[in-house]
Amino acid sequence: MADKKVAVIGAGLMGNGIAQVSIMAGYNVVLVDIKDEFVDKGYANIEQGIKKLEAKGKLGEGVTAADVMAKCVKSIDLASAVKDVDIVVEAVIEKMDIKKQVAKTVMDNGPSHIIFASNTSTMSITEIGKDCGAPDRVCGLHFFNPVPLMRLVEVIRSADSSDETINIITEYAKVLPCLRGKRYIAEVLKDRPGFIVNRLNAPAQIYMNWVFDTAAERGIPWEHIEGDAGSLMPMGPCVLTDYVGIDTAVHTQRYYAETLSSDFAPGKVLTKFMEEGNLGAKTGKGFFDWSQGRPNPDKSVKAGLFNIENTMAILLNEGCRILEEGIASGFKVIDDANMAGMNTPGPFGAGKKQYARWSEMLEKLADETGKEYLRPCELMKSGEFAKMRK
Ligand SMILES: NC(=O)c1ccc[n+]([C@@H]2O[C@H](COP(=O)([O-])OP(=O)(O)OC[C@H]3O[C@@H](n4cnc5c(N)ncnc54)[C@H](O)[C@@H]3O)[C@@H](O)[C@H]2O)c1
Repeated sequence: MADKKVAVIGAGLMGNGIAQVSIMAGYNVVLVDIKDEFVDKGYANIEQGIKKLEAKGKLGEGVTAADVMAKCVKSIDLASAVKDVDIVVEAVIEKMDIKKQVAKTVMDNGPSHIIFASNTSTMSITEIGKDCGAPDRVCGLHFFNPVPLMRLVEVIRSADSSDETINIITEYAKVLPCLRGKRYIAEVLKDRPGFIVNRLNAPAQIYMNWVFDTAAERGIPWEHIEGDAGSLMPMGPCVLTDYVGIDTAVHTQRYYAETLSSDFAPGKVLTKFMEEGNLGAKTGKGFFDWSQGRPNPDKSVKAGLFNIENTMAILLNEGCRILEEGIASGFKVIDDANMAGMNTPGPFGAGKKQYARWSEMLEKLADETGKEYLRPCELMKSGEFAKMRK
């Protein structure tokens, strides 16, 4: 595979990471963006990363940063850049019309075997490839940030992807180095919102919105919600939401509200923060004041409102929906992908024993919150998921 030529399109945060691990694997890479200044900045970031690894002796025996960087060239002309390329990984901004245009330019100008893999987090792969002229040679390839450190890569099969496309992209991704251990490739069998890992974790936000809004109505201080999480979460729900960014959380929730269920719609508290421009860590204020660095709320008092076990139950329910919809082949893939992408265990390990009790908890939670999406699905209630192919 390493004799294959790869084009990485979009020299931003993700494109840099994807290009870096690709040249480290020995692929010849052309890094493409729309302006010299963007592609130069991306190239400089990659070089900085490679030089750091060289200084730590992590490039391999006798391999220099210059040797690795020699595998990377820059371009701002997509049509000519893809002329002799085998695999394209697209990491441009998250806009459907731009992604579709890029896919068409690739198929119109690349060789007849060229494969186009999109790193989109939220767009339909089927839609991206639909009008490019060769939808069978389009698939998804979803990396996690930062690419050199996060082990997971999801390979997404669109409604039109051919088996050959999926095989070639899987072979490409398998050999990309990862600084935290062996890369894990999860095959996503259906092009559904959130793919596997983002989807698995998404509905916890429905619960969090209810916790935040209920705390606000009852005048419960945010510290007490952090107190509920105690030492079970490295960052409690409020600090974590501030850290992720209120705007990011709101955009994600709106996306799932449109694509999965209106129960995902952002709650009153997050909407108010968003309107006020208090977006969390990035603006210095959200639930907490971040102007002096990461806040350290007093967790000694509990609100008795947020229960982390509910979150585990919600994840198990969503994992079962992923299985019911045929997005993953079995529960082990989901658990392993969550560990490789989020560094936390998936829900099935504990869920195999707890599903009956957790189902009851979710029935109560759905009644209390009025959010039907939280009600347990049949596969969770029956425990039959444990018998499905791993
Ligand atoms: N940031 C993340 O954590 C993350 C994680 C997984 C997937 N993604 C996805 O990866 C993609 C890129 O995200 P990012 O965070 O790297 O964005 P970014 O804004 O850092 O980079 C996007 C780059 O694409 C370039 N670009 C725009 N139009 C282009 C075109 N027509 N041709 C070539 N280049 C073009 C921009 O100039 C920019 O350099 C998005 O689809 C995003 O959803 C992001």
